[in-house]
Amino acid sequence: MNIPIALVVGARPNFVKASPLYRVMIERKIPTLIIHTGQHYDYELSKKFFEDFALEKPEIDLGVGSGNHGEQTGKIMIELEKVLMNIKPSLVAVFGDVNSTIATALVTSKLYIPLAHIEAGLRSFDRTMPEEINRVLTDAVADYLFTPSVDADENLKKEGVGEDKIFLVGNIMIDSLVEHLGIARERKYYKRFGVEKKKYWLLTLHRPSNVDIRDKFSDLLTAIDFIRKHRPVIFSVHPRAKKMINEFKLTEDFPWLSGGDNFIPIIPVGYIDFLSLEYYAEAVLTDSGGMQEETTYLNIPCLTLRENTERPITINLGTNTMCRIGEEIVREAENIFNGKCKKGKMPQLWDGHTSERIIDILLEKQ
Ligand code: UD1
Ligand code: UDP
Repeated sequence: MNIPIALVVGARPNFVKASPLYRVMIERKIPTLIIHTGQHYDYELSKKFFEDFALEKPEIDLGVGSGNHGEQTGKIMIELEKVLMNIKPSLVAVFGDVNSTIATALVTSKLYIPLAHIEAGLRSFDRTMPEEINRVLTDAVADYLFTPSVDADENLKKEGVGEDKIFLVGNIMIDSLVEHLGIARERKYYKRFGVEKKKYWLLTLHRPSNVDIRDKFSDLLTAIDFIRKHRPVIFSVHPRAKKMINEFKLTEDFPWLSGGDNFIPIIPVGYIDFLSLEYYAEAVLTDSGGMQEETTYLNIPCLTLRENTERPITINLGTNTMCRIGEEIVREAENIFNGKCKKGKMPQLWDGHTSERIIDILLEKQ
């Protein structure tokens, strides 16, 4: 096997998922290269992750940047097609559900290059989420569908995907978590914010359905206002949330959003620092996909600020609770303050060895 396998990444969660796979490939001397689409480009959302994971800088960076969906997806397709026609990889691997994932899937499949989708089969059944479109379409053209949990297998089978293409391998994000948990614990990153372990909450928000709609964002902030009156809240501010806070002038209604009064907004931090913050938090408030899984693994209560989730296993088995409106957040937060936390169980194969299973399957099939 001398022709390289290309791992195509573009946005923050992609780096967390690609890193363990890349590492196993290097260990097993499988030729590989990383192609970065440039969807995320800020240091904190991109390069910092390559540093944290001690990854070589990507061999190729398409540098597409931000844009509307069509524009961003189209630019990636145009640039990536040239690169793939030149490199002719033996296989292309894509991760998760971002625009870089679907753009790569479309180009790869039309060049008749085998395509592996890692984190296949997740469904929120909500087609207003751009990620749901990306998931459904990527799975429709992928040759290898590597799933994180049994519900994903069931979704794919219902959509008519052949069972010979579906491989339950577990959660690749948890590979990264297992690998870095020791160093994250030692780092005790919370200390720099003057908070006590297990007595602060960690918040992230970036879904368009939450931050792009003023009334919705305000409703969430009203509930967060309640929480910060009881516990310090550390808020890692995603650039989309930052943009909308400014556009909607939300600090006029919620002056504490700028910091102070038990509220600590921070620029996004790298993976290890963030994992450290998650590990020592009393609870997590988020609309992130990956953090629903990380908190289930860490057995930390997670309130997911969304209408639905493509990761139901984190609710059925894990520590995740869905909160659709502000009132539900307040109710669940009170439960946590009173020590009434959901007890979670670990989903099958979330054990840190997903990448190895993927490589074993690819080697056997190629
Ligand atoms: C994207 C993914 C989302 C994923 C999230 C992870 C899609 C459709 N969305 O959302 O599924 O959960 O990444 O974080 O692929 N921006 C910067 N700097 C950057 C990148 C973006 O300032 O490095 C700003 C720009 O104003 C941009 C906006 O953030 O317009 C949104 O970026 P984009 O990549 O389109 O979507 P995300 O909201 O980051
Ligand atoms: N994360 C991080 N720093 C931060 C916020 C999040 O390293 O300041 C990590 C988080 O631990 C998880 C990943 O980023 O591994 C999740 O990415 P995000 O929430 O942006 O995307 P999603 O999972 O929703 O697609």
